[in-house]
Amino acid sequence: MKLLINQKKLQGHVYVPGDKSISHRSIMFGAIAHGQTRVKGFLEAEDCLSTLHLFRSLGVEIVHEGTDVLVNGCGIESFKQPKVPIDIGNSGTTIRLATGLLAGGPVDVTLYGDASIAKRPMGRVLTPLKEMNASVSTQDGNYAPIHIKGNQTLTGIRYQMPVASAQVKSALLLAGLHAKGETTVIEKEKTRDHTEDMIKQFGGKLEVTGKVIRLKGPQRLIAQTVVVPGDISSAAFFMVAGLITKESQIVLPNVGISATRTGIIDVIRQMNGHLTITNEDKLNKSATLTVTNSSLKATTVEGKLIPRLIDELPIIALLATQASGTTVIRNAEELKVKETNRIDVTASELNKMGANIETTSDGLIIHGPTPLHAAVVDSHGDHRIGMMLAIASLLVETGQVELKNSEAVAVSYPRFFEDLASLIGEKQ
Ligand code: S3P
Repeated sequence: MKLLINQKKLQGHVYVPGDKSISHRSIMFGAIAHGQTRVKGFLEAEDCLSTLHLFRSLGVEIVHEGTDVLVNGCGIESFKQPKVPIDIGNSGTTIRLATGLLAGGPVDVTLYGDASIAKRPMGRVLTPLKEMNASVSTQDGNYAPIHIKGNQTLTGIRYQMPVASAQVKSALLLAGLHAKGETTVIEKEKTRDHTEDMIKQFGGKLEVTGKVIRLKGPQRLIAQTVVVPGDISSAAFFMVAGLITKESQIVLPNVGISATRTGIIDVIRQMNGHLTITNEDKLNKSATLTVTNSSLKATTVEGKLIPRLIDELPIIALLATQASGTTVIRNAEELKVKETNRIDVTASELNKMGANIETTSDGLIIHGPTPLHAAVVDSHGDHRIGMMLAIASLLVETGQVELKNSEAVAVSYPRFFEDLASLIGEKQ
């Protein structure tokens, strides 16, 4: 598609859609709990619809009306044997968390996904799950399809995680809920804690001490109402749009601000970006974020900050192209195993537009500020790369920016292009 170029004065409000991580978990917890779970603000995007499809295929009754979802949970023991392998599309969260969850269930399931999923490492969840006595396998030990055999008696383990990954942690905690004895997970770095929050919300018991999480299984969970805030990872594209386009101010109400997800706010402030937080709702961990066009300086993004902004690194790289000085992103090797290799793809696509970005083995070095020019760019089927390139094109003064594979944005944000156009006052 042809992207909008040469924009300033982006003004207005965007209500970004529901948090992807929380939406996935709301369906999963609703399915294994007892009673009717009500989800408000569910993210209706391809990834979360994959989770919904999975649990419906397991016989869970789910009523889906827009952003309202009702899940009639009867415990994991009620899951029905699916007749065919289940397609989870592009969703890494679905396949990794569901593998942990289903390892302690009563049915045999095969999970597969698209070409990107088939290249992403699954050994990181299979190895510890096998230690718990799960019967989980793939043909070559690391790549989907994953075969999960039910009716196994799982036992808790103590597991020191070799990677900082909320998906691996969550898979083990979900398995631990249906295992005998104690499951202890020790994180490499603190990652998003929506699973821990939801275990507590659904009446489960777990203990968190720093990076050590402990729970005793088996546990019986009770249905709840889950109110999903807007996704800070989606808001990030508009945060950066407002900061880098002249005379702009963008207001983003109801954005989730869990401390495990707000690394981008810290980075914007480090770079002298103007961002305010108002209307904070402590219970729902959400707030209104307002960004204003700012004169930015380079920074370093590393260490324990990385898991708190892992999905925002492509858009942070774009932000850094407009800052004066050299921004260094390191300790971000996990970017190589996302929907694409985001180290390579971020650098190569932005460099096509005139950015000056070097890749390293664990990150990016971005020399700024650089003007950006027209080019033919490609999302490579990665939703966050597609949205980042659409924001980059706002800075192009003349010519035409063509984005290939733009439909990928529907993985997490189907209305992205319409919401962007609404700030400009043009309809697509
Ligand atoms: C997610 C965890 C992160 C993140 C992904 C969502 C989650 O993945 O990149 O988009 O919901 O748990 P990793 O656990 O692989 O870092």
